[in-house]
Amino acid sequence: MGAGQPASEQQALTKPAPDLGIVLVAGGAGVAGECIVHALLDRGATVVVPSRSEARLAALAGRVDPTARDRLRLLVGDVGSETGITRVRDEVLNQHGQLRGVVASLGAWWEGEQFVDLSMSTWSRILNDNLTSHFLVARGLLPVLAQSDDPVFVTLAGIAADHPEPHAAPISITGAAQRMMLRTIAVSDIGRQVRLHEVTIMTPIVTDGWTGEQPATDWLTGRQVGDYVADVISPDFARRDTLLLELPA
Ligand SMILES: NC(=O)c1ccc[n+]([C@@H]2O[C@H](COP(=O)([O-])OP(=O)(O)OC[C@H]3O[C@@H](n4cnc5c(N)ncnc54)[C@H](OP(=O)(O)O)[C@@H]3O)[C@@H](O)[C@H]2O)c1
Repeated sequence: MGAGQPASEQQALTKPAPDLGIVLVAGGAGVAGECIVHALLDRGATVVVPSRSEARLAALAGRVDPTARDRLRLLVGDVGSETGITRVRDEVLNQHGQLRGVVASLGAWWEGEQFVDLSMSTWSRILNDNLTSHFLVARGLLPVLAQSDDPVFVTLAGIAADHPEPHAAPISITGAAQRMMLRTIAVSDIGRQVRLHEVTIMTPIVTDGWTGEQPATDWLTGRQVGDYVADVISPDFARRDTLLLELPA
């Protein structure tokens, strides 16, 4: 370090990276979740990823930087069922220790029939995947998180939560309900014990595995999404009191 450097600059250069602790990413084997897993591992976090699919977990592990592989903890389990989330919670606590953060990146995009033509099976499946899974993860893990120092809980959302989409009605409806769930948690007792945020991603996420149409230049990359959510998880995140965050900001 240069002898002539101001003390404040020297301090900034030597400041240790904040400790992100152990973070569980529900949906971490999915598209958005994986971007977050990579970014958290890059920041030194220990990252627990549950998935119903052993194959998806193996594929995720294969794409992780080998030097961070020992901090990626994989768990076959179903956070979208009542028994499943309890088992995931108990296994995490027994095998990995106290969680400091949870990210819920749950439920996939869907588009198809307009509202009056929706089948009961489509409605029920999306309600289950995009809303009930959030309920179970929040209800199951918030009390555990509250035992930790500086706990943080983050949900991912998409643009349809704000914009009624004629061909994606169940996505818009469950997205809006997911947001209200977090707002309701925020005004309940547990909301005073755990830092809460929703991060709404306002564009498609262009990952290395992108196979869709030519992306617009302003669409977010997986790296941008992952880095932003890792910033939110970090103890030194600047907007700690802002419940609803949007990317691009
Ligand atoms: N991908 C994008 O371009 C994009 C853009 C904007 C916003 N987002 C937001 O990102 C979030 C995740 O979307 P995604 O595109 O990453 O979806 P995805 O690739 O399908 O991943 C969703 C994850 O949710 C889990 N999941 C779904 N239903 C479940 C259930 N019933 N029980 C337990 N787990 C369940 C799956 O876990 P398993 O591994 O167990 O199957 C999967 O890993 C959503 O909030 C979405 O709005 C995504």
